[in-house]
Amino acid sequence: MRFVTNLNQKWSKACYTRLQILKSKPMVTAVKTKQFEEIRPGVKVPAKDTILTPRFYTTDFEAMAKMDISLNEEELRAILEEFRTDYNRHHFVRDEEFKQSFDHIDGDTRRLFVEFLERSCTAEFSGFLLYKELGRRLKDKSPVLAECFNLMSRDEARHSGFLNKAMSDFNICLDLGFLTKSKKYTYFAPKFIFYATYLSEKIGYWRYITIYRHLEQHPEDRIYPIFRFFECWCQDENRHGDFFDAIMRTQPNILNDWRARLWSRFFLLSVFATMYLNDIQRSDFYKAIGLDAREYDKYVIDRTNDTAGRVFPVVLDVENPEFYQRLETCVTNNEKLRGIVNSRTPKFLQFFQKLPLYCSNAWQFLKLYLMKPIRVDHLESVVR
Ligand SMILES: [Fe+2]
Ligand SMILES: [Fe+2]
Repeated sequence: MRFVTNLNQKWSKACYTRLQILKSKPMVTAVKTKQFEEIRPGVKVPAKDTILTPRFYTTDFEAMAKMDISLNEEELRAILEEFRTDYNRHHFVRDEEFKQSFDHIDGDTRRLFVEFLERSCTAEFSGFLLYKELGRRLKDKSPVLAECFNLMSRDEARHSGFLNKAMSDFNICLDLGFLTKSKKYTYFAPKFIFYATYLSEKIGYWRYITIYRHLEQHPEDRIYPIFRFFECWCQDENRHGDFFDAIMRTQPNILNDWRARLWSRFFLLSVFATMYLNDIQRSDFYKAIGLDAREYDKYVIDRTNDTAGRVFPVVLDVENPEFYQRLETCVTNNEKLRGIVNSRTPKFLQFFQKLPLYCSNAWQFLKLYLMKPIRVDHLESVVR
Protein backbone atom coordinates (compact mmCIF):
# COMPACT_ATOMS: atom_id res chain seq x y z
CA MET A 1 0.00 0.00 0.00
CA ARG A 2 2.89 2.28 0.86
CA PHE A 3 4.35 1.59 -2.55
CA VAL A 4 1.03 2.43 -4.14
CA THR A 5 0.75 5.75 -2.32
CA ASN A 6 4.31 6.68 -3.26
CA LEU A 7 3.64 5.75 -6.83
CA ASN A 8 0.59 7.94 -6.91
CA GLN A 9 2.41 10.87 -5.36
CA LYS A 10 5.28 10.40 -7.75
CA TRP A 11 2.99 10.29 -10.73
CA SER A 12 0.89 13.14 -9.56
CA LYS A 13 4.04 15.23 -9.19
CA ALA A 14 5.44 14.09 -12.51
CA CYS A 15 2.21 14.88 -14.32
CA TYR A 16 1.97 18.36 -12.89
CA THR A 17 5.65 19.02 -13.50
CA ARG A 18 5.22 17.97 -17.12
CA LEU A 19 2.29 20.32 -17.48
CA GLN A 20 4.21 23.15 -15.81
CA ILE A 21 7.13 22.63 -18.18
CA LEU A 22 4.75 22.87 -21.10
CA LYS A 23 3.29 26.03 -19.60
CA SER A 24 6.57 27.76 -18.90
CA LYS A 25 8.61 26.69 -21.93
CA PRO A 26 9.68 29.75 -23.88
CA MET A 27 7.93 29.55 -27.21
CA VAL A 28 9.20 30.57 -30.58
CA THR A 29 7.07 33.11 -32.35
CA ALA A 30 7.23 32.38 -36.02
CA VAL A 31 5.39 33.52 -39.08
CA LYS A 32 3.97 29.99 -39.40
CA THR A 33 1.98 30.43 -36.16
CA LYS A 34 -0.01 33.27 -37.68
CA GLN A 35 -2.39 30.67 -39.00
CA PHE A 36 -3.72 30.61 -35.44
CA GLU A 37 -4.96 33.09 -32.87
CA GLU A 38 -2.55 33.26 -29.94
CA ILE A 39 -3.01 33.99 -26.22
CA ARG A 40 0.65 34.97 -26.16
CA PRO A 41 3.47 34.24 -28.61
CA GLY A 42 3.49 30.54 -29.49
CA VAL A 43 0.48 29.63 -27.32
CA LYS A 44 -2.67 28.87 -29.23
CA VAL A 45 -6.10 30.14 -28.27
CA PRO A 46 -8.00 26.91 -27.58
CA ALA A 47 -10.58 25.93 -30.20
CA LYS A 48 -14.04 27.33 -29.41
CA ASP A 49 -16.41 24.97 -27.60
CA THR A 50 -18.98 23.56 -29.98
CA ILE A 51 -21.13 20.45 -30.00
CA LEU A 52 -18.30 18.71 -31.90
CA THR A 53 -15.26 19.70 -29.77
CA PRO A 54 -13.83 17.49 -26.98
CA ARG A 55 -15.41 18.19 -23.59
CA PHE A 56 -14.20 18.26 -20.01
CA TYR A 57 -16.31 16.27 -17.58
CA THR A 58 -17.19 16.27 -13.94
CA THR A 59 -19.40 13.83 -12.04
CA ASP A 60 -21.00 12.87 -8.73
CA PHE A 61 -17.85 11.82 -6.85
CA GLU A 62 -19.81 10.78 -3.74
CA ALA A 63 -21.99 8.37 -5.71
CA MET A 64 -18.92 6.98 -7.46
CA ALA A 65 -17.19 6.42 -4.10
CA LYS A 66 -20.21 4.56 -2.71
CA MET A 67 -20.40 2.11 -5.62
CA ASP A 68 -20.22 -1.53 -4.63
CA ILE A 69 -17.72 -3.19 -6.97
CA SER A 70 -17.76 -6.64 -5.35
CA LEU A 71 -19.58 -8.24 -8.30
CA ASN A 72 -16.54 -7.87 -10.52
CA GLU A 73 -13.76 -6.91 -8.12
CA GLU A 74 -11.51 -9.76 -9.21
CA GLU A 75 -11.38 -8.51 -12.78
CA LEU A 76 -10.84 -4.94 -11.62
CA ARG A 77 -7.89 -6.05 -9.47
CA ALA A 78 -6.42 -7.90 -12.45
CA ILE A 79 -6.70 -4.73 -14.55
CA LEU A 80 -5.11 -2.74 -11.72
CA GLU A 81 -2.13 -5.13 -11.84
CA GLU A 82 -1.82 -4.43 -15.56
CA PHE A 83 -1.88 -0.69 -14.91
CA ARG A 84 0.83 -1.09 -12.26
CA THR A 85 3.02 -3.00 -14.69
CA ASP A 86 3.13 0.18 -16.76
CA TYR A 87 4.08 -1.32 -20.13
CA ASN A 88 4.62 2.09 -21.70
CA ARG A 89 6.90 3.46 -19.00
CA HIS A 90 9.69 4.13 -21.50
CA HIS A 91 7.62 4.52 -24.62
CA PHE A 92 6.95 8.24 -24.85
CA VAL A 93 10.46 9.48 -25.53
CA ARG A 94 11.05 11.86 -28.42
CA ASP A 95 13.87 10.39 -30.49
CA GLU A 96 16.19 11.62 -33.24
CA GLU A 97 13.44 11.66 -35.83
CA PHE A 98 11.79 14.61 -34.11
CA LYS A 99 14.98 16.67 -34.41
CA GLN A 100 14.23 18.14 -37.82
CA SER A 101 12.19 20.91 -39.34
CA PHE A 102 8.60 20.14 -40.25
CA ASP A 103 8.21 23.25 -42.39
CA HIS A 104 7.57 21.06 -45.42
CA ILE A 105 4.15 20.39 -43.88
CA ASP A 106 2.67 23.73 -44.80
CA GLY A 107 -0.45 25.64 -45.81
CA ASP A 108 -3.76 23.96 -45.14
CA THR A 109 -2.16 20.62 -44.32
CA ARG A 110 -0.19 22.30 -41.55
CA ARG A 111 -3.33 23.93 -40.16
CA LEU A 112 -5.23 20.62 -40.23
CA PHE A 113 -2.26 18.82 -38.72
CA VAL A 114 -2.11 21.23 -35.79
CA GLU A 115 -5.90 20.95 -35.40
CA PHE A 116 -5.60 17.16 -35.25
CA LEU A 117 -2.88 17.43 -32.59
CA GLU A 118 -4.89 20.00 -30.63
CA ARG A 119 -8.09 17.97 -30.65
CA SER A 120 -6.23 14.82 -29.64
CA CYS A 121 -4.29 16.67 -26.93
CA THR A 122 -7.50 18.23 -25.53
CA ALA A 123 -9.30 14.88 -25.50
CA GLU A 124 -6.36 13.17 -23.75
CA PHE A 125 -6.06 16.02 -21.28
CA SER A 126 -9.78 15.84 -20.55
CA GLY A 127 -9.23 12.19 -19.56
CA PHE A 128 -6.28 13.19 -17.40
CA LEU A 129 -8.29 15.81 -15.46
CA LEU A 130 -11.29 13.57 -14.87
CA TYR A 131 -9.28 10.49 -13.84
CA LYS A 132 -6.95 12.54 -11.64
CA GLU A 133 -9.89 14.08 -9.79
CA LEU A 134 -11.59 10.69 -9.42
CA GLY A 135 -8.35 9.22 -8.09
CA ARG A 136 -8.11 12.00 -5.54
CA ARG A 137 -11.75 11.94 -4.40
CA LEU A 138 -12.02 8.14 -4.16
CA LYS A 139 -8.68 7.65 -2.43
CA ASP A 140 -9.95 6.77 1.05
CA LYS A 141 -13.36 5.42 0.09
CA SER A 142 -12.73 3.08 -2.82
CA PRO A 143 -8.99 2.35 -3.00
CA VAL A 144 -9.04 -0.08 -5.95
CA LEU A 145 -10.94 2.31 -8.19
CA ALA A 146 -8.90 5.27 -6.93
CA GLU A 147 -5.63 3.63 -7.87
CA CYS A 148 -6.96 2.59 -11.26
CA PHE A 149 -8.04 6.18 -11.95
CA ASN A 150 -4.67 7.53 -10.79
CA LEU A 151 -2.76 5.18 -13.04
CA MET A 152 -5.00 5.98 -15.99
CA SER A 153 -4.43 9.69 -15.37
CA ARG A 154 -0.69 8.94 -15.49
CA ASP A 155 -1.19 7.48 -18.99
CA GLU A 156 -3.36 10.36 -20.18
CA ALA A 157 -0.85 12.93 -18.89
CA ARG A 158 1.82 11.23 -20.98
CA HIS A 159 -0.43 11.18 -24.03
CA SER A 160 -1.50 14.81 -23.80
CA GLY A 161 2.04 15.96 -22.94
CA PHE A 162 3.45 14.11 -25.93
CA LEU A 163 0.85 15.63 -28.26
CA ASN A 164 1.43 19.12 -26.91
CA LYS A 165 5.15 18.69 -27.45
CA ALA A 166 4.35 17.59 -31.01
CA MET A 167 2.44 20.84 -31.49
CA SER A 168 5.56 22.75 -30.54
CA ASP A 169 7.26 21.17 -33.58
CA PHE A 170 4.84 23.41 -35.49
CA ASN A 171 5.80 26.42 -33.33
CA ILE A 172 2.57 26.45 -31.35
CA CYS A 173 1.23 24.72 -28.25
CA LEU A 174 -1.62 24.71 -25.76
CA ASP A 175 -1.43 26.19 -22.29
CA LEU A 176 -2.97 23.25 -20.45
CA GLY A 177 -3.17 25.22 -17.20
CA PHE A 178 -5.20 27.89 -18.98
CA LEU A 179 -7.36 25.20 -20.58
CA THR A 180 -8.07 23.67 -17.15
CA LYS A 181 -9.40 26.98 -15.88
CA SER A 182 -11.10 28.33 -18.97
CA LYS A 183 -12.96 25.35 -20.40
CA LYS A 184 -16.53 24.56 -19.37
CA TYR A 185 -17.06 21.29 -17.51
CA THR A 186 -20.02 19.10 -18.43
CA TYR A 187 -21.67 17.23 -15.56
CA PHE A 188 -22.50 13.58 -16.20
CA ALA A 189 -23.92 11.17 -13.60
CA PRO A 190 -21.52 8.23 -13.05
CA LYS A 191 -23.34 5.81 -15.35
CA PHE A 192 -23.16 8.31 -18.21
CA ILE A 193 -19.47 8.85 -17.51
CA PHE A 194 -19.04 5.07 -17.89
CA TYR A 195 -20.90 4.87 -21.22
CA ALA A 196 -19.11 7.93 -22.62
CA THR A 197 -15.58 7.19 -21.44
CA TYR A 198 -15.82 3.50 -22.32
CA LEU A 199 -16.71 4.45 -25.88
CA SER A 200 -14.16 7.22 -26.17
CA GLU A 201 -11.38 4.89 -24.96
CA LYS A 202 -12.39 2.12 -27.35
CA ILE A 203 -12.88 4.41 -30.32
CA GLY A 204 -9.52 6.00 -29.44
CA TYR A 205 -7.96 2.55 -29.58
CA TRP A 206 -9.43 1.83 -33.02
CA ARG A 207 -8.48 5.25 -34.35
CA TYR A 208 -4.84 4.97 -33.29
CA ILE A 209 -4.34 1.35 -34.35
CA THR A 210 -5.99 1.90 -37.74
CA ILE A 211 -3.69 4.83 -38.54
CA TYR A 212 -0.71 2.84 -37.28
CA ARG A 213 -1.51 -0.22 -39.41
CA HIS A 214 -2.14 1.87 -42.50
CA LEU A 215 1.22 3.66 -42.13
CA GLU A 216 2.98 0.40 -41.46
CA GLN A 217 1.83 -0.68 -44.93
CA HIS A 218 2.52 2.74 -46.46
CA PRO A 219 5.61 4.20 -44.78
CA GLU A 220 5.82 6.84 -47.54
CA ASP A 221 2.70 8.48 -46.00
CA ARG A 222 4.17 8.74 -42.51
CA ILE A 223 4.95 12.43 -42.79
CA TYR A 224 5.43 12.96 -39.06
CA PRO A 225 7.06 10.61 -36.49
CA ILE A 226 4.28 10.63 -33.87
CA PHE A 227 2.33 7.96 -35.76
CA ARG A 228 5.09 5.46 -35.03
CA PHE A 229 4.15 5.66 -31.34
CA PHE A 230 0.50 4.74 -31.88
CA GLU A 231 0.90 0.96 -31.63
CA CYS A 232 1.84 0.83 -27.92
CA TRP A 233 -0.08 4.02 -27.19
CA CYS A 234 -3.38 2.51 -28.32
CA GLN A 235 -2.85 -0.40 -25.92
CA ASP A 236 -3.16 2.11 -23.07
CA GLU A 237 -6.55 3.17 -24.46
CA ASN A 238 -7.59 -0.44 -24.88
CA ARG A 239 -6.75 -1.17 -21.22
CA HIS A 240 -8.64 1.96 -20.12
CA GLY A 241 -11.65 0.77 -22.11
CA ASP A 242 -11.40 -2.66 -20.48
CA PHE A 243 -11.41 -0.97 -17.09
CA PHE A 244 -14.72 0.76 -17.89
CA ASP A 245 -16.10 -2.49 -19.28
CA ALA A 246 -15.22 -4.18 -15.97
CA ILE A 247 -16.65 -1.36 -13.87
CA MET A 248 -19.96 -1.39 -15.77
CA ARG A 249 -20.24 -5.11 -15.03
CA THR A 250 -20.20 -4.30 -11.31
CA GLN A 251 -23.46 -2.38 -11.86
CA PRO A 252 -25.71 -4.70 -13.91
CA ASN A 253 -28.60 -2.25 -13.71
CA ILE A 254 -26.77 0.09 -16.08
CA LEU A 255 -26.47 -2.65 -18.70
CA ASN A 256 -29.57 -4.77 -18.39
CA ASP A 257 -32.83 -2.86 -18.51
CA TRP A 258 -34.71 -0.91 -21.21
CA ARG A 259 -33.11 2.34 -20.07
CA ALA A 260 -29.68 0.82 -20.62
CA ARG A 261 -30.68 -0.07 -24.18
CA LEU A 262 -31.88 3.47 -24.88
CA TRP A 263 -28.79 5.10 -23.37
CA SER A 264 -26.41 2.72 -25.14
CA ARG A 265 -27.98 3.72 -28.46
CA PHE A 266 -27.74 7.38 -27.58
CA PHE A 267 -24.06 7.26 -26.63
CA LEU A 268 -23.06 5.05 -29.55
CA LEU A 269 -24.78 7.40 -31.97
CA SER A 270 -23.38 10.57 -30.35
CA VAL A 271 -19.81 9.28 -30.40
CA PHE A 272 -20.03 7.95 -33.97
CA ALA A 273 -21.80 11.01 -35.39
CA THR A 274 -19.40 13.43 -33.68
CA MET A 275 -16.37 11.61 -35.06
CA TYR A 276 -17.82 11.31 -38.56
CA LEU A 277 -18.81 14.98 -38.82
CA ASN A 278 -15.45 16.13 -37.46
CA ASP A 279 -13.36 13.88 -39.66
CA ILE A 280 -15.16 14.43 -42.95
CA GLN A 281 -14.79 18.14 -42.40
CA ARG A 282 -11.04 17.53 -42.10
CA SER A 283 -10.66 14.93 -44.83
CA ASP A 284 -7.61 16.76 -46.23
CA PHE A 285 -5.72 15.84 -43.07
CA TYR A 286 -6.45 12.16 -43.66
CA LYS A 287 -5.58 12.56 -47.34
CA ALA A 288 -2.18 13.94 -46.28
CA ILE A 289 -1.43 10.62 -44.58
CA GLY A 290 -2.88 8.57 -47.44
CA LEU A 291 -6.25 7.77 -45.87
CA ASP A 292 -9.74 8.30 -47.18
CA ALA A 293 -11.59 9.93 -44.25
CA ARG A 294 -14.89 8.20 -45.07
CA GLU A 295 -13.38 4.74 -45.38
CA TYR A 296 -11.29 5.28 -42.26
CA ASP A 297 -14.28 6.42 -40.19
CA LYS A 298 -16.52 3.65 -41.44
CA TYR A 299 -13.93 1.07 -40.46
CA VAL A 300 -13.38 2.64 -37.01
CA ILE A 301 -17.14 2.88 -36.39
CA ASP A 302 -17.67 -0.71 -37.48
CA ARG A 303 -14.90 -2.01 -35.19
CA THR A 304 -15.96 0.12 -32.20
CA ASN A 305 -19.60 -0.89 -32.62
CA ASP A 306 -18.53 -4.51 -32.67
CA THR A 307 -16.31 -4.07 -29.59
CA ALA A 308 -19.10 -2.27 -27.70
CA GLY A 309 -21.32 -5.31 -28.27
CA ARG A 310 -19.19 -7.17 -25.70
CA VAL A 311 -20.65 -5.07 -22.91
CA PHE A 312 -23.56 -2.94 -24.21
CA PRO A 313 -26.93 -4.66 -24.56
CA VAL A 314 -27.48 -3.25 -28.06
CA VAL A 315 -25.32 -1.95 -30.90
CA LEU A 316 -26.23 0.17 -33.93
CA ASP A 317 -27.12 -1.22 -37.32
CA VAL A 318 -24.26 0.61 -39.04
CA GLU A 319 -24.51 -1.63 -42.10
CA ASN A 320 -27.96 -0.30 -42.93
CA PRO A 321 -27.34 2.20 -45.81
CA GLU A 322 -29.70 4.66 -44.10
CA PHE A 323 -27.11 5.14 -41.35
CA TYR A 324 -24.49 6.83 -43.53
CA GLN A 325 -27.06 8.48 -45.81
CA ARG A 326 -28.40 10.44 -42.86
CA LEU A 327 -24.92 11.28 -41.59
CA GLU A 328 -24.05 12.55 -45.07
CA THR A 329 -27.07 14.88 -44.96
CA CYS A 330 -25.63 16.30 -41.71
CA VAL A 331 -22.20 16.67 -43.40
CA THR A 332 -23.83 18.72 -46.20
CA ASN A 333 -25.82 20.78 -43.67
CA ASN A 334 -22.65 21.55 -41.73
CA GLU A 335 -20.86 22.66 -44.90
CA LYS A 336 -23.72 25.06 -45.59
CA LEU A 337 -23.62 26.28 -41.98
CA ARG A 338 -19.91 27.07 -42.30
CA GLY A 339 -20.62 28.90 -45.55
CA ILE A 340 -23.22 31.07 -43.79
CA VAL A 341 -20.92 31.86 -40.84
CA ASN A 342 -18.12 32.89 -43.22
CA SER A 343 -20.44 35.03 -45.38
CA ARG A 344 -20.98 38.77 -45.04
CA THR A 345 -24.67 38.35 -44.22
CA PRO A 346 -25.62 40.28 -41.03
CA LYS A 347 -25.71 38.10 -37.90
CA PHE A 348 -29.49 38.34 -37.32
CA LEU A 349 -30.17 37.20 -40.90
CA GLN A 350 -27.65 34.39 -40.55
CA PHE A 351 -29.78 33.01 -37.73
CA PHE A 352 -32.74 32.54 -40.07
CA GLN A 353 -30.52 30.98 -42.71
CA LYS A 354 -29.08 28.56 -40.17
CA LEU A 355 -32.34 27.55 -38.50
CA PRO A 356 -33.62 25.07 -41.13
CA LEU A 357 -30.18 23.43 -41.23
CA TYR A 358 -30.14 22.98 -37.45
CA CYS A 359 -33.67 21.54 -37.65
CA SER A 360 -32.58 19.16 -40.40
CA ASN A 361 -29.59 17.99 -38.30
CA ALA A 362 -31.83 17.41 -35.27
CA TRP A 363 -34.31 15.48 -37.47
CA GLN A 364 -31.53 13.30 -38.92
CA PHE A 365 -30.22 12.59 -35.43
CA LEU A 366 -33.70 11.64 -34.23
CA LYS A 367 -34.26 9.34 -37.21
CA LEU A 368 -30.84 7.76 -36.67
CA TYR A 369 -31.66 7.26 -33.01
CA LEU A 370 -34.94 5.58 -33.89
CA MET A 371 -33.33 3.14 -36.33
CA LYS A 372 -33.80 -0.41 -35.13
CA PRO A 373 -30.69 -1.41 -33.16
CA ILE A 374 -29.19 -4.89 -32.94
CA ARG A 375 -29.81 -6.68 -29.65
CA VAL A 376 -26.68 -8.43 -28.42
CA ASP A 377 -27.54 -9.00 -24.75
CA HIS A 378 -28.62 -12.58 -25.49
CA LEU A 379 -24.98 -13.27 -26.35
CA GLU A 380 -23.90 -12.50 -22.78
CA SER A 381 -22.35 -15.90 -22.12
CA VAL A 382 -20.84 -16.26 -25.58
CA VAL A 383 -17.39 -14.93 -26.43
CA ARG A 384 -18.22 -11.89 -28.52
FE1 LIG B 1 -5.02 8.45 -23.89
FE1 LIG C 1 -7.34 6.58 -22.32
